[in-house]
Amino acid sequence: MAAFGTVFTPEMIISRFNNNSWSTPEIVATDSISLHPGAHVLHYSSTCFEGLKAFRHADGGIYTFRMEKNVARLAQSSQLLALPGFDKAMLSKMILDIVSRYAADVPQPPGSMYIRPTHIGTEASIGKAAAPSLESMLYVLLSPVGDYFAGGAKPLRLLLEDNARCAPHMGMVKSGGNYASALQPIMKARASVQADQVLFCPNGDVQETGAANFLLIDGNEIITKALDSSFLHGITRDSILTLARDRGMTVSERELTVDELLERAAKPGTEAALSGTAAVLTPVGTLIHGGKEYQVGSGVAGATTNALRQALNDIQWGKAEDKHGWLTKVC
Ligand code: PLP
Ligand code: COI
Repeated sequence: MAAFGTVFTPEMIISRFNNNSWSTPEIVATDSISLHPGAHVLHYSSTCFEGLKAFRHADGGIYTFRMEKNVARLAQSSQLLALPGFDKAMLSKMILDIVSRYAADVPQPPGSMYIRPTHIGTEASIGKAAAPSLESMLYVLLSPVGDYFAGGAKPLRLLLEDNARCAPHMGMVKSGGNYASALQPIMKARASVQADQVLFCPNGDVQETGAANFLLIDGNEIITKALDSSFLHGITRDSILTLARDRGMTVSERELTVDELLERAAKPGTEAALSGTAAVLTPVGTLIHGGKEYQVGSGVAGATTNALRQALNDIQWGKAEDKHGWLTKVC
């Protein structure tokens, strides 16, 4: 199977903001946009994006998962980056229109259609280092995908890094610059200790990895950092916490220090996992800190992690009742 995110449908849907108004969304060839080399996004990173998925059910129906949450988060990211505001209903319709046009390309489970709404500042002005782009493009790319982590649900190795992933006020913005600032630490972690990902823990505060949230599962309790502006408010995180509460688990959204994490991880039966649209819920088997390796619980995918992942997938794939109203029927 092709690497995650490298296959695109031949068309996407786009709306442009010029002269204070949005154009009627149109379907265009995916590789058809042109940008001025002085476009704001190319210099000052006025870019934000979303990642959500559409799923094929056994009866052939196609459904998106928690689309309104992603649309709302893109609107919030756009606002925090001072990009032009857009009508959330317009973006929702763009998503539904392009997914329904490519419904036949939505893979069977365990695959899905990854949906990438993207908003970029396009004004040609290299002088606007400290001023917003007054022109932008909002488009929705589609990419049929399988597993994000090449090893499937193989437990991951995480290097705990003392630095932040990004500037503390930017964590809740899903913006390209945050991924750029995390890249070197992740590359170094791969090369030096064969880590799969970096778990960013500035000042000993366990935050998130480069592309997913971090959850610690200790018996009946699930522990994860309480929401603040320093990290991305994952929609999968919220969904998993909801499913955990549904199962009678105690959900503790609070600060988690590296010391507490390492102490708890050593106990037999402890589990850790990464949550994200691409990651779904991927078990973590090893934490690496201060030159030492710490096995999480028994080092293999834990029963609770597997059960929560299955519960989420069952809703997404239409095999369990959608009690929380998370699915939107596309066609
Ligand atoms: N944190 C970061 C930095 C991410 O890139 C993602 C992926 O989208 C997440 C967390 C998880 O967010 P979500 O569950 O909404 O996909
Ligand atoms: C997602 O889970 O949707 C992400 O954004 C992760 C990614 C950067 C592929």
